[in-house]
Amino acid sequence: MSAGGMFGAAAAARAAEVVRARIGGATPVAGVILGSGLGGLAARIANPVAIPFAEVPGFPTATVVGHAGKLIAGTLGGRPVVALAGRFHMYEGHPAPLAGFPVRVLHALGARVLFVSNAAGGIRRTFRAGDLMLIRDHLNLMFQNPLVGALEPGDIRFPDMSEPYDPSLCESLRAHAAALGIPLQEGVYGALLGPTYETPSEVRMLATLGADAVGMSTVPEVIVARAIGMRVAGISCITNLASGISPHALSHAEVLETTTLVAERFESLVERFVGGL
Ligand code: HPA
Repeated sequence: MSAGGMFGAAAAARAAEVVRARIGGATPVAGVILGSGLGGLAARIANPVAIPFAEVPGFPTATVVGHAGKLIAGTLGGRPVVALAGRFHMYEGHPAPLAGFPVRVLHALGARVLFVSNAAGGIRRTFRAGDLMLIRDHLNLMFQNPLVGALEPGDIRFPDMSEPYDPSLCESLRAHAAALGIPLQEGVYGALLGPTYETPSEVRMLATLGADAVGMSTVPEVIVARAIGMRVAGISCITNLASGISPHALSHAEVLETTTLVAERFESLVERFVGGL
């Protein structure tokens, strides 16, 4: 079977059946993907049912430090939600269709909104470590696409990507951030394969191409979501200044340290956003 078929609509329906049997029947208003160090949001989910990724058919076990590797269902801001603490990165060797597979499972569980989050390096000169950035658009510089292969039932063959991040969801994130007094930057997320951080020359290239932040995830998930008609919104946590802009070497420890500092703001914003859906 092709990678797409293994991680396609039928496999997602099977996984969702197993998950639904454990979490109950409430239809989630959103699927939420929590990036590196941002899994603390799971603690705000009321009446949580947690399922380790290893127990979800089709999911491999997550291995990156800072990623719990759990699906958590419950209510957030009073609304039913399914969150994934952890994701499958292509730099782990996973094919692009697997990186997007959890989105198909969230969709099969009934979610029609996808909220994505990630840790990212800040490229735009006005960004500081600890900023939250509304993702307005992205650059797919992974040079792979999760939709390559036979068309999955229910997928659009040539998805429109003129508005990958839903304008009205972006607007409500802006409004909620303003109401909470949380400064919110905006920009374009450039996704590279990783796992190396960038060279300073690569960061200059990314700036020229129009990227405001750089990371190693999210884009395969957003592409799958658009192919199956989900509306998407997302936030990058700027955990560090990108290579060559930062005065020191980059490390995953720094990334996780910054996410702890911004966790409270990030969690309040996402809770309010989901509560307003
Ligand atoms: N580059 C790529 N990915 C990242 C970075 C970065 O600087 N920070 C957090 N994730």
